[in-house]
Formats: sequence, C-alpha cells, structure tokens
Amino acid sequence: MSTAAAQPAPSALPPAGAPIAIRCRGVTKHYGSGDARVVALRGIDLDVACGELMMLVGPSGCGKTTLISVIAGILDRDAGECTVFGDDFAAMSGRARTRYRGRNIGFVFQAFNLIPTLTAAENVAVPLMILGEGRAAAVAKGRDMLARVGLGDRARSLPSQLSGGQQQRVAIARALIHGPRLIVCDEPTSALDHETGHVIMRMLKNVALQQDRALVIVTHDARIFGFADRIARMDDGRVERIERPSATGAESA
Ligand SMILES: Nc1ncnc2c1ncn2[C@@H]1O[C@H](COP(=O)(O)OP(=O)(O)OP(=O)(O)O)[C@@H](O)[C@H]1O
Ligand SMILES: [Mg+2]
Repeated sequence: MSTAAAQPAPSALPPAGAPIAIRCRGVTKHYGSGDARVVALRGIDLDVACGELMMLVGPSGCGKTTLISVIAGILDRDAGECTVFGDDFAAMSGRARTRYRGRNIGFVFQAFNLIPTLTAAENVAVPLMILGEGRAAAVAKGRDMLARVGLGDRARSLPSQLSGGQQQRVAIARALIHGPRLIVCDEPTSALDHETGHVIMRMLKNVALQQDRALVIVTHDARIFGFADRIARMDDGRVERIERPSATGAESA
C-alpha cells in the first residue's frame, strides 16, 4: 500500500492549526439488550475545529441524534474517546457534567423540548436562570434574543400558541442565549420556510465564525448545505466520508 493511500482525504481534516473543539475516536453506542439490542454507533472518528460549522447528514436511523447526544454529554458512549474542548464527560460526575453543559453547550433538540407552561421568553431565559441570573433580567434577555430570531412580538406566547417553525426558533434562541462555546442543533430548519431558514443559518454561521466556538448541525435540508464548512456523511453508525459543501452540489450560502 502506498503512503498516500493511507492519508485521510483533505476534507476529512479540520483546518490546519485551528484548535480542536470536538474529537471522537472509535466511539460506539448501543441501545437495549438481547433481541432488542440496536447498535447505533459503530466506531465514529470525527474532528471539529473551533470556528467550524460541521453538518452531519445521512439516512433516518443512521445514528446522527445518537452521535450529537454523546458529543453533548446527554448520552454515555460505550467505548472510544470523545472530548469537547479537551474535556471528557466520562471523567465528570453527574453534577459536574450538568454544570459543564450549562456553561458550554447549547442544544437544539429534534423535538424542540420547550417547557409547555413557560412563555417563549421564559423558555429562552432558562439557561441563564440555571447559571444564576435573576428571573427578570434573564427574561428581558430572552425577549431580546427572540427578536433576533424574528419573534419579538411572540415573547408572551406559550409554546402551544406557536407554529412549529416559531417553536423551532424559540428552541434555537434558547440554545444561543448563554453564549455557549459548542452549539449542537438537530434539524434546526426542518419546520422553517426557505427564507427564515437562511436567516437562522446566517445567524448560526456568525456564531460559528467566532474562533473559540464550534457548531454541529444535523440536517436533511440540502438548502442549507452551503452554510457548512464541512459535511460528514453518516450511514449505519459510521461516518462514511467528509466533504466540502462545494463537492456536494449544494446550494451556496
Ligand atoms: N432510545 C432508544 N432506544 C432504542 N433504540 C434507539 C433509541 N434511540 C435511537 N435508537 C435506534 O438507534 C438508531 C440510531 O438512531 P438515531 O436517533 O441516532 O438516528 P438518526 O440518524 O438521528 O435518525 P433520524 O434522521 O430519523 O432522526 C436507530 O436504529 C434507532 O432506532
Ligand atoms: Mg435524529
């Protein structure tokens, strides 16, 4: 075998010299046991650099949500290595892990996971209140963040009074409000029209451009591929290949 053949494709590598935000090596994860056992991740290798927007794409059930849940410390991996900004959730106590996530990670869930009894502004304010900010100040900041996602007039609405796309934007505002270093979004534009999706992606991209931050976005939405720095294609619990968006024929950002 030639030496060249052993080298990863250039697109598989993060930008040279950039500090690494996420490093996964051989990450495996299964659910259930016996007949119900499902292997969701079969040895994931992935690096995401600070300042990078990495998209994860692949067919339904290939392990995308599982992978970002492991990266964000919501699920434990079975084996392999996974660090975020050099820190390993597996080495943290439950409390330390919750505190670390509260400070450093913003997560947009596929199902939004808004608190039904809180208004939109209160939902957005939750991460700040968890970090100790007073309720009134946190909710005021929540209203400002809602305005940035185009929902300035819906601050007092309950989630049940909002459309799917509006709820999705509340979830995105909640993930950004505390200035986390890592933002992880599961299908953030699935309920958004083309124009609103692009507004949200531009906002997320601006956050990622801050050099100490990183963004990982799971998506099926080819309309937003052009916003990615790199796109990791997953299949059956593995990262099959990593591409630059120009190589995918994606619409440009
Ligand atoms: N809580 C769970 N219990 C058992 N199996 C699960 C659980 N969550 C996910 N799985 C299984 O693990 C595999 C990976 O699921 P995952 O949710 O990570 O896929 P995905 O790529 O996010 O899919 P989608 O695009 O449909 O959201 C699937 O086969 C799924 O059925
Ligand atoms: Mg999923």
